Order: sequence, then structure tokens, then C-alpha cells
Amino acid sequence: MTSERIERLLGEMTPAEKLGQLQIVFRPRPDDAAQLVREGLGSVFWPPSAAKTNELQRVAVEETRLGIPLLVGLDVIHGQRTIAPVPLAQAASFDPTLVEELAALAAAEARSGGVNWTFSPMVDVSRDPRWGRVVEGFGEDVHLTSVMGRAMVRGYQGGDLAAPTSIAATAKHFVAYGQPEGGRDYNSVDVSEHRLRNVYLEPFRAVVEEGVASVMASFNTVGGVPMHVNRGLLTDMLKTEWGFEGVVVGDAEGVRNLLAHRVAESLTDAVARSFEAGLDIEMGGTPGEVAEAALAQIEPARIDDAVRRVLAVKEALGLFENPFVAEDEERTEPTADSRRLVRRAAARSSVLLKSEGTLPLRGGGRVLLTGPYAESPDLLGAWTQFFAAGAQSVAAEARGRGLDVTAVPGVDFFAGSDADIESAASAARESDVVVVLVGEPSALSGEAASRSDLRLPGRQEELIHAIAETGTPFVVVLVTGRPLVVADWIEAAPTVVVAWHGGTEAAAAIVDVLVGDEEPAGRLPMSWPRSVGQIPIDYAHENTGRPATVGGTLTTEVADVGLHGPDNLQEKFTSKYLDLELGPQFAFGHGSGYASFRHGEPRVSAAELTQGEAVTLSIDVTNVSDLPGDEVVQVYVEDLVASVAPPVRRLAAFERRAIAPGETATLSFEIGDEQLGFWLDGRFTVEPGAFVLHVGPTLDRAQPVALTVRAR
Ligand code: NOJ
Repeated sequence: MTSERIERLLGEMTPAEKLGQLQIVFRPRPDDAAQLVREGLGSVFWPPSAAKTNELQRVAVEETRLGIPLLVGLDVIHGQRTIAPVPLAQAASFDPTLVEELAALAAAEARSGGVNWTFSPMVDVSRDPRWGRVVEGFGEDVHLTSVMGRAMVRGYQGGDLAAPTSIAATAKHFVAYGQPEGGRDYNSVDVSEHRLRNVYLEPFRAVVEEGVASVMASFNTVGGVPMHVNRGLLTDMLKTEWGFEGVVVGDAEGVRNLLAHRVAESLTDAVARSFEAGLDIEMGGTPGEVAEAALAQIEPARIDDAVRRVLAVKEALGLFENPFVAEDEERTEPTADSRRLVRRAAARSSVLLKSEGTLPLRGGGRVLLTGPYAESPDLLGAWTQFFAAGAQSVAAEARGRGLDVTAVPGVDFFAGSDADIESAASAARESDVVVVLVGEPSALSGEAASRSDLRLPGRQEELIHAIAETGTPFVVVLVTGRPLVVADWIEAAPTVVVAWHGGTEAAAAIVDVLVGDEEPAGRLPMSWPRSVGQIPIDYAHENTGRPATVGGTLTTEVADVGLHGPDNLQEKFTSKYLDLELGPQFAFGHGSGYASFRHGEPRVSAAELTQGEAVTLSIDVTNVSDLPGDEVVQVYVEDLVASVAPPVRRLAAFERRAIAPGETATLSFEIGDEQLGFWLDGRFTVEPGAFVLHVGPTLDRAQPVALTVRAR
């Protein structure tokens, strides 16, 4: 982590100069930024242009005593100029190569403007769709989040951080931020050591192994201890146990927030305790005298360690040799290639929730576009900045492609009159097919965007019913940054596609999917609940002692007299709701596509293996349709008996594969310790005994294969 240069600089630095390296001030005014850099500030938020960044770098390297270049940070979350689908959608692609390509594009655009540090990826396992930040991560699954997190880190950082197309990545928010009580952003978290290790920490461990340059501390408490002062996790786990050598950055004002948490008496106390706990850069802007007073309380070796980490990232980024970027090469607009990539990504992220044959719309004819997303260009999704390349609406895109479309939105996102709904319905009667484009505007997901009601807002559900009643064939396209509750209308809709917030080329991708130029063959990265009361409803929950296998619905006759339905009477004392079907509306991994596939019998290279060994699981998949298509094969592990209650099922491997009509592809998966083991008492353990692997296109259509692990 260190070098001659770093040690020399450390030897020369005054306490104030060290302090400067340990701060990123939260979006100061431009003049103030230059002055702060002159006074020794070591990291800034992007100004935002290559020219302005160079100006600040010039102040840092020419007007400060030691000439240390700046880290220039920015939330590049799903694109800088060319906006890709939101991360949750990217996860739905089940295509890590694509995710890596998207991150590489974002990095190249960002670095060309002088950004060298992004606060992404978010690898918070997210099991509560009320929490608006689910949009920024990869959903509920540990394995999918780990794989996609690694892919994003590789994309951002490339093979060499010093390359003009690479930026330093930040894994956030460390840790368990994805499980705020009640789904309210910033809320407390109380989590067992068992779940922390097996669920929330695991994707962080994966990206640390991948070489992520920094990790951001989260706002929440874990077991009462705010993460900004959580030494056990920031230092003992992350730095000592995992050997993380990068930078731990605080979240915005996370140190100051310790006062509101009521765990610090003063800002000085908060700053001192955070650095002692393992923070290396404070994101906020503590006044100099406070920070200096704090610094005086901290072990000098800890301060030097933090400074060393910061300088090491700057060195890896090649900033000492080359602090500036070529201003005339700044990429301020998408290119044809970047547009092509994000368009393909948006289509590949789309999920066919249900399909009764309306799609693809091959026949042409008169198409009505209705719903707020018919004419709204609000398709970029949460976490984009003012300089992002905007999207156009689906109506504009469809017209541009010569389709015979009429747009009658009918309702707005939040409002609409009976007359508006009737105007859409009467236009539907005049059309051959209707595309109902409904969803949540971008502002309803992202930071500080939790919702208590996950139904379509406003009168959008009424619009769907009104269109259904016309009898004209129709398709619902859901544009959203989170799972929605669709129970009140899903039966009325024959075909439903989830398009998510798809970015700059979202509209083109939606039309591609509608007309069949692309296939919506993604899979859900989070379960969709039947009702908010059912949350959390993740598929990988632990086996209970009283699992429910049937029931959960009140029948009318017995409900009338206040009793439970027949199934519930038989099986009352099991884990379920009396007034709800079992399971989610749509489970994790759910989805299909336009093509159809036949799965052969899965086979393993050996039915028994010894701890430390691996077997190969293979399955032949045939495309039995006349359309080219992608299948997503998913492998789940069921541990039949373990020393702690194992998850009901756990995704251990997956592959998305394009298969031509009539072709049979063999997909193979290596199954060994990594897939079969779990964390127990602080150690990764593979317990001998019986397992079942479930392999298939979705969890409910998977086939079982038995496997036995013998002790070594
Ligand atoms: C607060 C958010 O929690 C974090 O994800 C983000 O990186 C920072 N603000 C900086 O904008």
C-alpha cells in the first residue's frame, strides 16, 4: 500500500496537511473550492467540467507546498453522460459482462472530464422494496449482488487505475444499510452476526477481493452502533480480517450525524471517534479548528495510516504523474456506440412478467399508447445529474420509427379525471392494440424516497382496468425503480413487461422489445410482494420450524363467520398470513422471454464429493421455438440439514445464454465449497451431508439433483 513517495510525503506533512487529505467537502461553491484546495483540501466533488477540474488540480499541484493532486469524486451511479438502466435493472439482465461494459463506459466518460473516483457500486443486499434505494443496488440476492458488484468494479477500475478510462470505485454502504427498519431510509438496523456474515457483508467481501479502491460507511446503526464509529466492522472486519488496503470514506455528513444519533457529545468528539473507528476520509466539511482539535485526540499512527491509504489511491490513479485531463477530449455527449450499448442494456434488462401472446407486436396496425409514460421522457431513473443525456418519450420514439401510434396518456402519474380515463378508453376502442405505459416517476425511488404503498400511484390502476374493459388487446409496460404491488390489476392484464428506468435510450429499447427486435428475457432481481404487509418476502429466508405449504386465503363463506379457510383450518399453525396467498406475487428470478426452451435432465459429474472438491453440474437446453432467444439458467442450493437453519434455497450460480432456434446448448456450472458453504462462527464452512441442487429457468420450474458432501 505504500511507496517511497508516500513515505517521503508523510515525513514532510504537517498535521494540517494530513488533515486536508482526510476530508472531502460536500459541494462547496466554486471559489470556495479553490480556496479550500489552496489551504490543503485533498478531495473535492467534481466541479463539473474538465476545464474546472484542471483548474482545481492546478491549484493543488502548483499552489500547495507539497503539490499533492486531488481525488475528484462523484456519484457516477449508472452513467455519466450516456445513462444506462438503473443498477436494479442491470441486475435483472443477469448479464455481468454487460454490467462490466456499462461501468467501463461510465468510467471513460467520467474520467475524460476529470472525475477519478465514483461512489458506486451499491452492494447493499436489499430485501425491502419500500426502501427507495433498492433502485441503486442489485436486489435481494447475495450471489447476484456479489457477481454484479464485482463486474461493476472491474468495469470502473479496468486493469489499471491510471488508465485515462478508469476511475476508482467505492463499494457502499458498509454495512446492512439495505435493511432499514420499516423500509425508511436512514433508519436503524439490528442484524444478527449470522445474517451479517452470510447476507449483508458477503457482497462487500466479494468486491474487496475484486480490488475495490474504497468503501463507504453507511448512515445506519448496526446493533446500536452507528457505522461511522463502528470499529468492529470498519477496522476489525474490513481492514484487519479482509485485509482491505483502500480508503474508507464516510457518507455525506455521516460524522456530523453522530450528534443526532446521540452517540457523540460534540463534533470534535464525533470526528475523533470516527477516525479512530477506521474512517479515512470524512465527507462533509468539518471546520478546521474542530478537526484539528479532533486530530489531536487520535493516535498519530492511525492518522498516518489514513493518509497513507489516501495517497496510495492517488498514486494508483497515476495522479502524481498526470493530474490533468485533456480538455479537448472531454466526452460531453453520447456517441453512436454508447447509445447502442445502453439501448441494448435496457432491452436486456426488461423482464416479461407474464405473457399471453400479445407480444411481440408483429402485425403493426393502429397502436394506442396510453398512461403517463406514453409521453413522459422521465426515463433516466434516480441518481443522474443535470449534465446527463436525456431520454425521449416512447411516443416520440415510436413515431420516429414510423409506427402508426396515437398517444392519449389518460392519466398523469398522480392525478387524472374520469373524463381523461374515458378519453383513453374510447381511443382504445378505435385501436388494434394498446400499450399501457405506467409506473413510478424517477423521483419516487432513490435516496430518501421510501414509500409505504407500493401500488401504482394516482389513478394508473384504474386506467389499466378501463383499457381491459374495452376488449382491445393490450400490453402493460411498467417503468419503475423498484418492485411494485400489482395485485389489484395483474389478473386483468394479459401481458406485462417490466422496463424499469432504462436510461438515455430507454424509449428506443421499449419499442425494440414491443416490436420484437429485442427480447425481454431478464429475470427479477427482487421478489415482487402481493401486498406491503408481506414485506420482507425474499426467497432465501431461513427455514422455519413450521413452514406453510398450503393455504393463506380466506374463503368467502368461512370469512363471513370469522373463521379461516379450509386450508388454514387444516394447517393453521404454520408461518403465513391468514388473508394472503403463500409466497410473493412474482419471485426472485422470475421471467421468461419470447422464445421457448426445453430443459433436459440435469446431471452431475459425481453424486458425492469430499469437502474441498468440486463437481460439474450440466444441463442441456434446447430452443424449441422459431425465434432466437436467451435462457437464464439458475442453480439454487438447498442444504438439507445444517447446524443452523439454512435458507430455503440460495442462488449459487447462473448463466444467461443465447440459443438459436432448434439448437441445444449445454450449460455447465462448477459446484464446490464456495457454492455449498456458509459462514458459521466467523469461519466459512462446508458441512458434510446431503444437498439438493435445483436447476432451471426459474425457481418454481427448477429440477432437483442430489449431491452428498463427505468430510475430508
Ligand atoms: C449520500 C448517499 O447516501 C451516498 O450514497 C452518496 O454517495 C453521497 N450522498 C454523496 O453524494
